[in-house]
Amino acid sequence: MILIIDFGSQYNQLIARRVREHHVYCQIEPHGIDTAQIKALSPEGIILSGGPASIYEKSSPRVDPGIFDLGIPILGICYGMQYMMDALGGEVRKAEKREYGFAELHIKDGRGIFYGIEKKTRCWMSHGDTIEKLPSGFRITAWTPNTRVAATENSTKNFYGLQFHPEVIHTPKGKKMLKNFLFRICGCKKTWTMKSFIRESVQDIRSQVGDKKVILGLSGGVDSSVAALLLHRAIGNQLTCIFLDNGLLRQSEAEQVRALFKGHFKVNLRFVNARRPFLEGLKGVVDPEKKRKIIGRTFIRAFENEARKIKGVEFLAQGTLYPDVIESRSAFGGPSAVIKSHHNVGGLPKKMRLKLIEPLKHLFKDEVRLLGKALGLPEDLIWRQPFPGPGLAIRIIGDVTRRRLSILRKVDAVLLEEIRASNLYKKLWQSFAVLLPLKSVGIMGDQRTYEYIVAIRAVTSTDAMTADWAKLPHSLLGRISNRIINEVRGVNRVVYDISSKPPSTIEWE
Ligand code: XMP
Repeated sequence: MILIIDFGSQYNQLIARRVREHHVYCQIEPHGIDTAQIKALSPEGIILSGGPASIYEKSSPRVDPGIFDLGIPILGICYGMQYMMDALGGEVRKAEKREYGFAELHIKDGRGIFYGIEKKTRCWMSHGDTIEKLPSGFRITAWTPNTRVAATENSTKNFYGLQFHPEVIHTPKGKKMLKNFLFRICGCKKTWTMKSFIRESVQDIRSQVGDKKVILGLSGGVDSSVAALLLHRAIGNQLTCIFLDNGLLRQSEAEQVRALFKGHFKVNLRFVNARRPFLEGLKGVVDPEKKRKIIGRTFIRAFENEARKIKGVEFLAQGTLYPDVIESRSAFGGPSAVIKSHHNVGGLPKKMRLKLIEPLKHLFKDEVRLLGKALGLPEDLIWRQPFPGPGLAIRIIGDVTRRRLSILRKVDAVLLEEIRASNLYKKLWQSFAVLLPLKSVGIMGDQRTYEYIVAIRAVTSTDAMTADWAKLPHSLLGRISNRIINEVRGVNRVVYDISSKPPSTIEWE
């Protein structure tokens, strides 16, 4: 495995994904980790990440310098390289010119990390500091017109430093450089595959759980579905999945989950009809945050009620993913303003006093999809667009009633059918409909109508942090609108949301 030491770079997770793309397992750990902990992980190599600090600042993050005596190859990237230079007796100072963007990289030594890469290539720079003096034993292996030490190495010790970012796509040969580090320098083997992950997780889960019972809240989304199947493979009927039908789901969603997990996979599934408490709790509630809080609370209560009926449960399983683990312990990402209080199946009660099992906590989303595939989950579930925990309640602006839910379900079904038929489902981050609590006048046949307005929202995004409204073809929008107005009673007008995030958000509430 490769250990990535976190100095707060926005690209950390990208480094990890790049390493894993080469089928080498890696882990990101905070810079507070000490050498004893590092030894226990027995990594083949260490990558020191970039970060926003300057090494000459008093509070700049550092890692136990004992790492340089472990005899393990080390690659420092950007700040990670500057830290290494400073720690080993070199000098770092503020650069005269900040360098940001593409730079022409001239390679002086095509062995080591640059093996097999042509002498001139491009790289992506983002730094304001530069190396003034190298520590003894190091030499320059590449330069750019603005940066004398763009890369350095001490080949006796197997220490390498890159001022630029090999992990971003703007460094076209970056993938090859990381590959050289992993295989030529660290001698890693390609052992990280979903097959090996399943084999090891199944063993881990079995030894952790023994003959005890585990419960898991199944939402029908990718993460909880994959977690459920993995646990089921490990411990069979010692796992009970609880699926709560909160009445805020889309058309046929609850039935599909039941058919797949209970019918097909033979998972021990408790299917709970909890529509009433949710709809009653939401009666007359218009404020989006209040809706979210009520749904969160009701969920916990209903889940606890059901869980209590199963005797002898010791573990609660959750489909937490690696980015959540990294972000929640990051020393750099301070608390940010609450825009929306998120609810998902993961947010379960702490007071249940159950031990947590999080079998996906070292996986990225794309790996979870691969795992799902390896476990036999159908493609349409694996590639399901995100659906928020509070469901349709935050897509009905204003009061959530049974009638409004029924209208929105039909509208949503038509929309998704058309998006799928146009082969756009996988290309869009999300596509959904929002029911507005407004009525407008229309004409149908010779009759005056006075019905609801529906908004269509379709966005492209890579991580939901930012999103663009999708430029859907007019012909498709026309078809969607026609079908909705013709097929769904209660709607006589369809509008298209053309706002991006920020400043708008993806969901309307
Ligand atoms: P916003 O509306 O904040 O949404 O731009 C960003 C992404 O998060 C999803 N979302 C949620 N997911 N529980 C979830 O699991 C929630 O409470 C929740 N609220 C929003 C939203 O669909 C989008 O993908």
